[in-house]
Amino acid sequence: MRFIALPTLLAAAALSAAATSVSSPSGELVLDVDVDNAGTPVYSLAYKGRPVISRSVLGLEGKEASFTSGFTVTGTDTITVDRSWQPVWGEYADVRDHFRELAVHLRADNPARLLTLRFRLFDDGLGFRYELPRQDNVNYLTLMKENTQFDFTGDHTLYCIPGDYDTDEFLFSEVRFSGLEDEMAPRLTRPAANRPAANGATCIQTPMLLKTDDGTYISLHEAALVGYPAMLLDVDCPEQSMTAHLAPDRLGVSAYLQLPFATPWRTLIISDDARDILASQLILNLNEPCAFDDTSWIKPMKFIGVWWEMFTGNVKTWAYSDDYRAKPGITDYSALPSNGRHPANTANVMKYIDFAARHGIDAVLVEGWNEGWEDWRAYRKNRQFLFDKAYPDFDVDSLRRYATDRGVQLIMHHETASNAADYERQLDRAFSFMKQNGYNAVKTGYVGDIIPRSEHHTSQWMVDHVNYVAGRAADYHIMVDSHEAPRPTGLCRTYPNWLAQESARGGEYEAMGSNPPSHTCILPFTRLKGGPMDYTPGLFETRLSYYNEGKTYQAGTTLARQLALYLTMPSPLQMACDLPENYERFPDAFRFIEDVPVDWSDSRYLEAEPNRYITVARRDKHSDDWYVGAITDDNAREALIDLSFLPEGRKYVATIYEDAKDAHWKDNPQAYNIRTVKVDSRKKLRQRLAPGGGAAIRITPAEI
Ligand code: NOJ
Ligand code: CA
Repeated sequence: MRFIALPTLLAAAALSAAATSVSSPSGELVLDVDVDNAGTPVYSLAYKGRPVISRSVLGLEGKEASFTSGFTVTGTDTITVDRSWQPVWGEYADVRDHFRELAVHLRADNPARLLTLRFRLFDDGLGFRYELPRQDNVNYLTLMKENTQFDFTGDHTLYCIPGDYDTDEFLFSEVRFSGLEDEMAPRLTRPAANRPAANGATCIQTPMLLKTDDGTYISLHEAALVGYPAMLLDVDCPEQSMTAHLAPDRLGVSAYLQLPFATPWRTLIISDDARDILASQLILNLNEPCAFDDTSWIKPMKFIGVWWEMFTGNVKTWAYSDDYRAKPGITDYSALPSNGRHPANTANVMKYIDFAARHGIDAVLVEGWNEGWEDWRAYRKNRQFLFDKAYPDFDVDSLRRYATDRGVQLIMHHETASNAADYERQLDRAFSFMKQNGYNAVKTGYVGDIIPRSEHHTSQWMVDHVNYVAGRAADYHIMVDSHEAPRPTGLCRTYPNWLAQESARGGEYEAMGSNPPSHTCILPFTRLKGGPMDYTPGLFETRLSYYNEGKTYQAGTTLARQLALYLTMPSPLQMACDLPENYERFPDAFRFIEDVPVDWSDSRYLEAEPNRYITVARRDKHSDDWYVGAITDDNAREALIDLSFLPEGRKYVATIYEDAKDAHWKDNPQAYNIRTVKVDSRKKLRQRLAPGGGAAIRITPAEI
């Protein structure tokens, strides 16, 4: 680690309210910080000489004290840091963390209040946070509002989802500031209790992206969300300005802060090249280093699951029995008959284990294995999920032996139906049960409104809860994949056992309305900036009518594109979501899923435009193989794959999994070809992608 302390620009001595400037290491980003006439901190940001954020206010409003105005600057500190770190897993083996930091120390009087604003300016963007130091007059703060403003400079295009305190499982809108209000109005269909009240602004969520008319891309999110609610954004459309909006608890309080306290970082990733937004590691850089000395137990992996069966035709169930209605008070499940539609049974799970073992898939997830699934509403009234009690047809012991003998891991599922408080009560018992039975990973779930606490999914309490679960899991050497949790903010750097989250509209929606091809062309620019997503790619049978004539949903994808998603949606935890029998119909295409790694030593974004297309190349962390994935929206396109990233002079064989000439996501999704070509670093492949299509390529050194 290398710290270079530059001469402090201005000593931490008396200083008047003069503007302070700092630039990024390259000089392309310039930040100005000041206090205005009312003593309110303000900042502005320019990129390549053009304003990106014009004078915007900063401040925190608390019950005990406000940190909004009356401030003077008492000093500033500036340092430059240039260091690198090695993630346990990820897109790069080495990550450079290079920034100039400006700390602005502020003081207000009557009563005295102290506040530090810390800014980090990287070549690819800005992070800043509020720091409330220990101080005489404020010991704790009941935070009512964060005033952070982002005043943009034009009628930019926004890529965003509606504001909601409880879910981010939405499709993205692509709309200008001037059209946002009309666009979002009909999309606010969720119950009022889950939504920010109309307050004259249009509420959206982060992570979101903006594009200016002169071609600058700005990704807006946050990093290191700890002890604080997630940030939503109130958009003043005519003013083209956004203000932080924090989910309140039932008393209207945003957060209870004990000083000293540092807020999460507010992050802006900025470039005039869309590929840089995808490549940026800014959010990870703003998180704390790994909290564990020993990470040898953390294993990136691919998995299949007893899962899609429950989505395909509304026939199979997570629940074991249908008899619960007649016997609502029953506690002894062995007295109930199975409904015969419960795939989490021993024999079926063994089939999945066999398939995984045959195809080199690391793990099998089983959903619906434990007591409590009968009726989520009834459960919520008078039933409880038990995380250490299997249904009678799920034999934990013999499955442990069966899986171990075949070298396959089992992933446990903990659906909490949002009774997070009860989950915390059971947590140690649940994790002990997992360890006793050989499970090293858990998928958690928080479907529905949070009970019994009336908290929101994005609230401080829930943020604390999911962070606590990840931390406790690490104590047991358990890896975590959380669904319906607050959106990630790069905490996987600190807790690399937190392999993935859902926290967006995932592949499951192919059975609940379907996802258009553009959806996976915008997620990497938005949701994925916070961390990997358990999107569940690998859907080979894309028509739900295949299972159930009455179902018309069809995934917005070709089969070849599903393979490309393993590259364009990087995650150390990748599902092969489809049924084993569907993979057996297309064994040559499934070969790609068997081969594709989930951990990388290098990544090169070759082409990118939000909502339109992405082409990326990645090098396997454990071999000299490279992989390329290319996807497009519902327009056909020709991807240009410049292989100059390959070492010069070395010969390779590229195995290309591509859309057939007549492939189309709608009419001909399963038409693909597989071909091999000899390539080297001078080669540029022109690769046709069908509407809603994609291509996946494995590039291996040619044998001499
Ligand atoms: C929603 C999750 O996203 C999905 O993966 C899971 O199968 C269901 N909840 C049931 O827990
Ligand atoms: Ca979900």
